[in-house]
Amino acid sequence: MRKPFVCGNWKMNKNVGETRSLCAELRTALGAFSQVELAVAPVFVSLPAAVDALKGTNIGVAGQDCHAEKEGAYTGNVSAPMLFDAGCRYVILGHSERRTYHAETDALVAKKAAAALAAGLNPIVCVGETLAERDGGKTLTVVETQVRGSLADIPEALAARVTLAYEPVWAIGTGRNATSAQAQEVHAFIRGLLRSMVHGEADKMRIQYGGSVKPDNAKELMAQPDVDGALVGGASLKADSFAAIVKAMHEARAR
Ligand code: 13P
Repeated sequence: MRKPFVCGNWKMNKNVGETRSLCAELRTALGAFSQVELAVAPVFVSLPAAVDALKGTNIGVAGQDCHAEKEGAYTGNVSAPMLFDAGCRYVILGHSERRTYHAETDALVAKKAAAALAAGLNPIVCVGETLAERDGGKTLTVVETQVRGSLADIPEALAARVTLAYEPVWAIGTGRNATSAQAQEVHAFIRGLLRSMVHGEADKMRIQYGGSVKPDNAKELMAQPDVDGALVGGASLKADSFAAIVKAMHEARAR
């Protein structure tokens, strides 16, 4: 019942020209996968180019962050209504790189998620434990705190528009992905938590896995019952590897 959702998080990569080129390649490479919801998240200055280059396709555009306020004296920030106005339909929030380098807290992520929903954007809210937390047996406690805190301001009626992304910090950019069993364990745990928070809406919410997703591990990860897609970093920077991951998701659901 949940449409799988794969999003490419380009992080701080691709200038305007490179964004246009990659989007043109994605138009060709991803046209056949209408059963998978698709988005890419370029840097702010490349968003209009991506929106333009992907017009008329099934590939949406996401911001990588937004501010919780609509406008005002917040130098360097971009608001949710501004992203929507620029043609974005999604925004990634609370990524571990934002939490680490910009000291973002669950409470701030919750405010941003509420602002995103109010602006018409569908938020992708990221959670995940560090290696020390996993080794210390704290994975589920940490993830529970992040999920409860980061979704604290979401009305139940809008919850189905929120995607969770489980991204273990130790798997991001390291080439060391969570095993399919590790991912499924946490995803099923998150699903249970969501049921306690937003009841029946929980079964409509997508939970993406992120962290070193590559063409060669995507099939097994995407086959897990509570893995509803992927948030892809490095492998989303090339059309062929991103398309291979999307194909793996498509095939996992077609079976
Ligand atoms: P990598 O796929 O490069 O590990 O990055 C994952 C990620 O952080 C996506 O948001």
